[in-house]
Amino acid sequence: MKYKKITAEDIAVLEAIVGKEHVYHDEENRNHYGHDETEDLKFMPEVIVKPRTAQEISEVLKHCNKELIAATPRGAGTGLSGGALPVFGGVIIAMERFNSILIIDERNLQATVEPGVINQVFQEAVIVKGLFYPPDPASKGSCFLGGNLAENSGGPKAVKYGVTKDYVLNLEVVLPTGEIIWTGANVLKNSTGYNLTQLMIGSEGTLGIITKIVFRLIPYPTQTLLMLVPFASAERACEAVSAVFRAGITPSAMEFMERDAIDWVMKFIEVNIEVKESTKAHLLVEVDGNDAETLMRDCERISEVMYQFDCDEILFAETAAQKENLWKMRRRVAEAVRSHAVYKEEDTVVPRAELAKLLKGVKEIGNRYGFKSVCYGHAGDGNLHVNIIKENLSDEEWTNKLPLGIREIFELCVELGGTISGEHGIGWVQKGYMDIPFDEVQIKLMKGIKTLFDPNDILNPGKIFN
Ligand code: MLT
Ligand code: ZN
Repeated sequence: MKYKKITAEDIAVLEAIVGKEHVYHDEENRNHYGHDETEDLKFMPEVIVKPRTAQEISEVLKHCNKELIAATPRGAGTGLSGGALPVFGGVIIAMERFNSILIIDERNLQATVEPGVINQVFQEAVIVKGLFYPPDPASKGSCFLGGNLAENSGGPKAVKYGVTKDYVLNLEVVLPTGEIIWTGANVLKNSTGYNLTQLMIGSEGTLGIITKIVFRLIPYPTQTLLMLVPFASAERACEAVSAVFRAGITPSAMEFMERDAIDWVMKFIEVNIEVKESTKAHLLVEVDGNDAETLMRDCERISEVMYQFDCDEILFAETAAQKENLWKMRRRVAEAVRSHAVYKEEDTVVPRAELAKLLKGVKEIGNRYGFKSVCYGHAGDGNLHVNIIKENLSDEEWTNKLPLGIREIFELCVELGGTISGEHGIGWVQKGYMDIPFDEVQIKLMKGIKTLFDPNDILNPGKIFN
């Protein structure tokens, strides 16, 4: 391995930079920072540092670059593609002390924040000022904004409001070679040179470490209506999704859950809904805005479309508690699956109108390879989370045969005009499949960018590419 092992001298240098009390190399901390939320993977870092300023990060990275030490940035550790795993050991740069909301600029509808702020904490801080930051991944109660930028996270609201990248105007970034730069300007329009801001977003912590984020915000919509739509056929549910948009309505969420997802989450947490024996899937549909009557009309129109696709009786959430109950059910599906089974989670995405074909194909591939899958996700974005369950597969089949089945699923996504990750990133676990969406020319361009930013490949090495 090309990376240097950390020595007592390196630890002394790191302690001098961030302070002795912010450097950890005990077993417990190394264990904790050795995993994220990605399946059951574990890679132990040699040391963890918790810097507080961009200048400290710069000095840490300069040292790593000089000594060829692998450095892996980490937010809250809620990632799902192994992006924060220190696969070559080395240093974890934990961003949890970067936890301040620096400015909420109500004149310009902008905010400047540090990357260790929790998504929901930020959302709540701007809501009280009548402002809205829509990206809301399932882990919004614990994930960091910096991690959201690293993966270009989405969440249910993305279908109407877009994903993380749509809200970022400007970034302060420490480069792997130690320079500190701003990537753009705090403006809503910018045609000035290459777009370094957008290049950083979704780069999974491989090009630089973000230390400040300037977001744009929008006015907070005051009203929501939520409906749960049961279907006796999961494919018909998927077909109904694009029909709603064709009817001229853009819901603020359009989520899909197949039967197993619902059953498992209902065993995992208390959810107060009746599900008929015949129900095979649900769509959870939300509309939002400021005018209750318009929203009622939207819901009527959505119901008409849903009935054309043979849905069963629609449940309207009447109270805030009912809405909360339904959202809790949707948001906790992934955790329920995790607690229930050995699994692998894929983050497939296709153009919205191809969703039914994707679901059908996933089931057909599963039948051929002998695996069960539990599917749910952001149907309005064509983004289907496919949780493959180990169940009866032998260890041999799980390790050697399943990757071929996953490859077929990804090939199907690309055939349908989609790609292999919608919001979880490539990280460590999907990099072996990058030849499916990209050819050699595209990969060479991406690797060239990485080398330009990080000539010694010290920052989050081993991610995205082989
Ligand atoms: C979700 O939509 O629930 C998440 O993206 C999936 C997960 O947390 O595993
Ligand atoms: Zn998701």
